[in-house]
Order: sequence, then C-alpha cells, then structure tokens
Amino acid sequence: MTDFNTVKIDLIAKLGIPYHETDSCILFCGDTLQLQKKSGSRYFDAIITSPPYNIGKEYEAVRPLQEYIEWTAEWIDGARKLLKNSGALLLNLGYIPIDDKGRAVPLPYILWDKIPMYLNQEIVWNYSAGVACKNYLSPRNEKILWYVNDKENYVFNLDAIRDKNVKYPNSKRNGKPRVHTLGKNPSDVWEIAKVTTGLNRSSEERTSHPCQFPADLINRLVLGFTNENAIVFDPFMGSGTTFESCLRHNRFCVGFEIVPEYCEIAKQRIISVEAEIKHTATQLELERAVYEPVCG
Ligand SMILES: C[S@@+](CC[C@H](N)C(=O)[O-])C[C@H]1O[C@@H](n2cnc3c(N)ncnc32)[C@H](O)[C@@H]1O
Repeated sequence: MTDFNTVKIDLIAKLGIPYHETDSCILFCGDTLQLQKKSGSRYFDAIITSPPYNIGKEYEAVRPLQEYIEWTAEWIDGARKLLKNSGALLLNLGYIPIDDKGRAVPLPYILWDKIPMYLNQEIVWNYSAGVACKNYLSPRNEKILWYVNDKENYVFNLDAIRDKNVKYPNSKRNGKPRVHTLGKNPSDVWEIAKVTTGLNRSSEERTSHPCQFPADLINRLVLGFTNENAIVFDPFMGSGTTFESCLRHNRFCVGFEIVPEYCEIAKQRIISVEAEIKHTATQLELERAVYEPVCG
C-alpha cells in the first residue's frame, strides 16, 4: 500500500479522528505505542524522529534506565513493523546521566543493538554552539543512527545533499574535474546550528516547543534518505518540523504526538507552510502569465 490517501483512510479507520489532516499530512494525538499497535503495516518509506531521552524534559517522566530501554525497544519494534522492506529509520539520540556510570552517556551506546534493523551508519550532528561548561568539555554533538531494513536495498540520494562548500572546486586530476559539479559528499559529520531561544538570538523558525529540531537537519534527512512522494513517519512529532520538511520537499507525512498543546503547534505550522507554498505557486503562475511571450 503506497498511495497516501489510501494510507490515510486506513489509519483513520483504525485510529479514529485525527487531530489534523490535509492532502499531504495527517497528525494523531495520543501515545505512540498505542497508536502504532492499532495501525496497519508497511505503510512508510522512512521514520525520522527524535524520541524523549529520559532526561526529565517537561513532556516526559524519568523512568528507571532498564524500563526506558525496554520502552524504546518496544516503540522501535512497533514503528519498524510499519516500514516498507526498503524502509529506513533515522533516529536522533543524545546523552543521559547514569548513576555511578557516567555523566553524559551517549544513548546509542545503550540502545544501538536493541534495534532489530541493520545499522548502516552513524551521523554526528555537530551544533557548534550551546551551554559552556567549566569542569568538562562543552557538549556539541548528538547522533543520528541510520538503520535500514535491507542493507542491499535502501534510498540514498547523495546528489540531493551534496555540500556546495568546496575549497578547490576547479581542481582537476588527469584533466578531469576532481569535484562533482553539485559539490562534495557531506560526510558523516554535519555542522548544523540548533534552534536557539532568547532575546535577540531566537531562531526565526522557533516555536514554543522545548526541543525543536532545526529544519536544516530534517531537510537533509528528508532529501538524502527518502524519494519524492515518499511517506515519512514521525512517532514523536513535537512541533511538526518533519511535517514542514516533507511539505516543502513533496513528501507525505504521518505524525503522532501525545501532548495536545504540541499537536496544536504542529497543526498551525502545517497550515502556515501550506499557505506559504500555495502563495508562492500562485505568484509563480502570475509571473509566468505576465512574461509569457505573445505568440501568433
Ligand atoms: C524530542 S521531542 C520531538 C521534537 C520534534 N522533533 C520537533 O522538531 O519539534 C519528543 C516529543 O515526543 C513527545 N512524546 C513523548 N512521549 C510520547 C509518547 N508516548 N507518544 C507520543 N509522543 C510522545 C513529546 O511530547 C515531545 O513533543
């Protein structure tokens, strides 16, 4: 089943009334585990998400570590069953403190082998600015684990995410250009600023969600690891960054989110991005009509 409308009809039949739906997006408000269990199977081309890290953010109660690991394994197994065979999981993970073990233990160390998929690569997201520490190094990275169902059959659109920032773009070897005309491979370390808050330094894209993904990060994941018209799933939708990226790049998107207030932020974001896209398309049409040469 690939057609988005068919997926939407099936999800509504199984999950009930969505919080919001459009031709390209559908958002359900509720617990991801429960919603996943009620859903059908093999709808999605990719899962792109950032789950709670169990660090006491306002949307999560801290669980004992073992319970958190089991919960993570459970939702990932549920989400994986909704993926197509050629599907991928792009999982953003940070750090947690563990009593007597470590101040900031990378979650991938704890979780990576609890995920019944093939770990294709780890991407380091370097966010270049953040809290300044005195007694240890200031943390500046999180990870994105790129899992695939089938290690011989997955989507990777290198040309869509090439890095145009090339030092010697005209360098040649044996008379042939050394660098691809679209730029270089962006490597597995991505320098992308976090969404910032605060007077005078708040990012333009900032919503009132406490842990918003930067659009540039999700855009790279959507463009590089899904094809046009793909159906992307975010089981922890938050403020709707994955919706926005999918809308801007001709992908469809399904999201689950447990906090109604965040569902409302995501809904308003969908409405405003869709209005902007429609407005731009209308402007282009008008420009085309004005500049079209008169034939005859
Ligand atoms: C790290 S945030 C995601 C932020 C999102 N990527 C964005 O750009 O806004 C995790 C989200 O998961 C939601 N969440 C936590 N537990 C959940 C659950 N059991 N089911 C669904 N959503 C949940 C939280 O409310 C929070 O919005």
